[in-house]
This record gives sequence, C-alpha cells and structure tokens, in this order.
Amino acid sequence: MKNKILEKFKTLFGEDGTLYMSSGRINLIGEHTDYNGGYVFPGAINFGIMAAIMPNGTDKVKVFSIDFDEFVEFGLQEEDKPNQQWARYIFGVCRETIKRGGKVGGFNAVFAGDVPLGAGLSSSAALESVFAYALNEINGNGIEKFELAKIGQSTEHNYCGVKCGIMDQFASIFGKEGSLIRLNCKTGEYKYFPFHPKGYKLVLLDTCVKHELASSAYNKRRESCERAAAAIKKNHPEVDFLSDANRLWLDEVRDQITQEDFLRAEYVIGEVQRVLDVCDALERDDYETVGEMMYQTHFGLSRLYEVSCEELDFLNKLARKCDVTGSRVMGGGFGGCTINLVKEELYDGFIAAAKEQFAQRFGHEPKVYNVVISDGARKL
Ligand code: GLA
Repeated sequence: MKNKILEKFKTLFGEDGTLYMSSGRINLIGEHTDYNGGYVFPGAINFGIMAAIMPNGTDKVKVFSIDFDEFVEFGLQEEDKPNQQWARYIFGVCRETIKRGGKVGGFNAVFAGDVPLGAGLSSSAALESVFAYALNEINGNGIEKFELAKIGQSTEHNYCGVKCGIMDQFASIFGKEGSLIRLNCKTGEYKYFPFHPKGYKLVLLDTCVKHELASSAYNKRRESCERAAAAIKKNHPEVDFLSDANRLWLDEVRDQITQEDFLRAEYVIGEVQRVLDVCDALERDDYETVGEMMYQTHFGLSRLYEVSCEELDFLNKLARKCDVTGSRVMGGGFGGCTINLVKEELYDGFIAAAKEQFAQRFGHEPKVYNVVISDGARKL
C-alpha cells in the first residue's frame, strides 16, 4: 500500500509526499454509550488508512483516492463542499480545523486503505483522523489530540449527517499497540488497559450486510436517548446524559416516555455499567465474565436498542452454540460485524461452523478478520 501511494503521488504531483497513517477500531464493550456521556472501551486496529500529503502553495486541495480511483479538487471555503462522499470527509476536516482557528492551506494528497467499508470498523473515522492529524502537523497548528478527534466527530455531524459520538475518532487518534482504552465520554478522562487475553483470540465476523438507512436510524436512537434523559432531568436536575441516571430514575418516568424510548434508555443504562464490570473483570483475568457481558450487550442491542439484524443474531447464536466465550454485534449496528472472544482451542471449529452454517442460511460466507490492536494516528 505504502509504495503504491508514494508512486501515485510522484506521478500525479511530480514530487514526494509525507506519509501518515491512522486506524480503524474495534470496541470490546460500551456500544451507543458515547453520545450518552458513558464509557466506551475501544482500541485501534491493524486495518487503516494511509495518506501521502504535501502543501501545494495554492488555496486548492487536490486529492486522489486509490480505492475509488477518483481525483477530486476543491477549495477551502464553506461553499466549496465536494459532491463525492469520500471527499466530504476530507473537506469537513479542513473546515473544522479552520473553524478552530487552525491554518489550512492548499495541499496535494493520495490515500488508500484496507479498513473494510460499512463493516462497522470506522473507516470514516480513520479517514478523518489521518487528515486531521496530518494537517495539524504540516500546518504547525499545535491542536491537542482530543480536539483532533473532535474535528473528525464534527465532520460527521456537519458534513456527513451522522450525529455520532466521539468513540471512533478518539480510538483512531489515541490508539496504542496492545491496549484498549476506557474513555469516559462525559469528562474525557481515559485509561489504557493492556489487552493480551492469554489462550483466547479476538475475531470479527463480517456479515457483509450494509443498511441503507443506518445513519438516520442511528440519529433516531440518539434522539430517543435525549428525550429519555430530558424526562428524567425533570425529577433529577443533575442528569445531563443518560449515563448520569440509574434504573430507578428511569422507572419513575416510564409513563411519561414512549415504550420505545424507555427500552433504548434501559439498554444504555445497563451498558454503561457493563463497561465498568468488564474492566474490573479484565484486571482479574476473568474472561468468562468479560464474555458473558458481551452476550448481555448483544441481547440489549438486539432486543432493546434494536440495531441488530437477522444475520448478526444468527452469528451470535451460533457463537453460543460453539461455546465461544463472548460475542456481540459491534459498532453502530444495522449490519457489519460481530466481535468474538474465543478460546484458542475452539477457534478453528467455530470459524468452520460459522462459514458453513452462515453460507447455508444466507448464501455467502461471513468474512473473517483477525484483528491486532495497534497504534492510532501517526507519521510514518
Ligand atoms: C458508531 C458511532 C460511534 C458510536 C458507535 C456505537 O460507530 O460513530 O460514535 O456511537 O456507533 O457505539
């Protein structure tokens, strides 16, 4: 990938570009908690996006995407928003940097990646982060890392229509080899947890299902949570986010909110606690508890939060049958992957069963990703 990018850069622009890289992410537990001010527990992975970049002394951005085989040129004013979705991420990062007082001049770039698209591994956060990080460096802006993550998040909000939380961009920027990061999304406090589950493998199974309406369904979930939090706040003014509430306080407003909003909130309140329980269990090397929590999360995401689908539920059930320690839908949902914590001696049998039985039921095999927890955004 590296040489391809550098060669293309040279062919297109007649000089060498500087290489930067950022990563996709997994999340062990803590799903849909970030925009509710709760905890998440992600890590960056060995699938990422690499970009060669160099200022060009103009006020134009010229970018070539190797994967889309497409060249786009745009200006840096608000009205210059490009039509191509992939280019909007880069444009958004430029605009959000400028809005924060950062300098962004014209530049040339070529990029490519190996984060599967639509699999729930945050290819978009990887794209935002690699450009947020690189533009910060090449323009000498000195923007703090957390703010770089927020630049990516605001890009999603303001240029891509997804009201996402901070998890993906945070993981992509802060990722560290061999560690998961527990982030308190309300305070921004975070802690690295070395993650080397001895005797276990972490494997993702990609259903290859992509939900067309995923972003509007995602935004709807967020609105449900905000309505539930607002109802609870009437009784308990200290509640700004659902993560500030508890189950009893939610029960108090059961008649004041819709059944749907109630179920969404019930899931979130449970999930915030599960992240803490998983971190405690990890400190004891108690992977059975970690796994059990993952199954509980899957149940919640499927039945209460309703972001699963038939294919994901099928893989989750199969994992249980194969004695996989933990399994659940990962990321925003509506398709994409399950994340599975499986004992090494059961791995081959599980993967074989998943391929065979999934293919029998849905006509194609799931894709298998053996992820390694890796570093986040960096210069190469
Ligand atoms: C997507 C969003 C994140 C987070 C997850 C669900 O990946 O981008 O902010 O909300 O869904 O946990």
